[in-house]
Amino acid sequence: MSVTIGVFDSGIGGLTVVREIKKLLPTQPLIYFGDTARTPYGTKSPETIIQYAREDTKFLLEHGAGILVIACHSAASTATSTLKQEFSEPIFEVVTPSIEQALALTRRKNIGLIGTRATVTSDVYEKAIHARLPDAKVYSQACPLLVPLVEEGWLKTRESRMIVKKYLRPLKNQQIDTLILGCTHYPVLKQIIQEKIGKKVKIVDPSAEIAHAVYSYLEAKDQLSEKSHGLEDRFFVSDLTPTTQEVVQCFLGNRVRLEKASLPKRE
Ligand code: DGL
Repeated sequence: MSVTIGVFDSGIGGLTVVREIKKLLPTQPLIYFGDTARTPYGTKSPETIIQYAREDTKFLLEHGAGILVIACHSAASTATSTLKQEFSEPIFEVVTPSIEQALALTRRKNIGLIGTRATVTSDVYEKAIHARLPDAKVYSQACPLLVPLVEEGWLKTRESRMIVKKYLRPLKNQQIDTLILGCTHYPVLKQIIQEKIGKKVKIVDPSAEIAHAVYSYLEAKDQLSEKSHGLEDRFFVSDLTPTTQEVVQCFLGNRVRLEKASLPKRE
């Protein structure tokens, strides 16, 4: 039996995760929800993020998702345990594979994290890294301007480069050897980030790991779709503007048709 993968993010950044999932699972049906009407999540309180994440999850389940991927670090670092308690479907998220990858890559145990304010202040990364590698140093930097830059499509502008450089300077000064991209919007800025942090620093982007985890799960359950089931992937956003549509082309190419979704209802 073929299972639909449900992926959500606060906006369109989660499409970087979708891109990797589709590389490995091209015929597995997928439904995406980007909460563009309420993005960013990273500046909101934990209570609000949990409520939004709950509503996003319900939306995906109501539209046929059988497994869930939280493709938003702000939501994953704040709401994963609540969602796992409240929903019985399997839930994959971006934080755990980021940590695994960082631990595997770091040589000098000097790890940098960039993310939204919610992700950085959640301390989830720091705690999990220290639980495994107590003498590791973790330097975190909130980069609240990067999500709006990406959502506006400012991917290669001079201003974007300057802002990335300014945010990364403190991490560069600490001579980190590994940098976690703790936000699913950031992989589209990866080239600039690599350039500004230095080419020796290893960059952690968990998208491919998540795709592998989902693949292994479906394979073990014998739920891989070997052929297309005629079901088209669907991409919903809670607010649809021409800019969103344009920026999405940069993420995934022309084949994506965005649909406007009504905001999930509160109970
Ligand atoms: N892509 C989301 C994340 O990974 C964006 C953050 C936000 O909405 O603030 O954290």
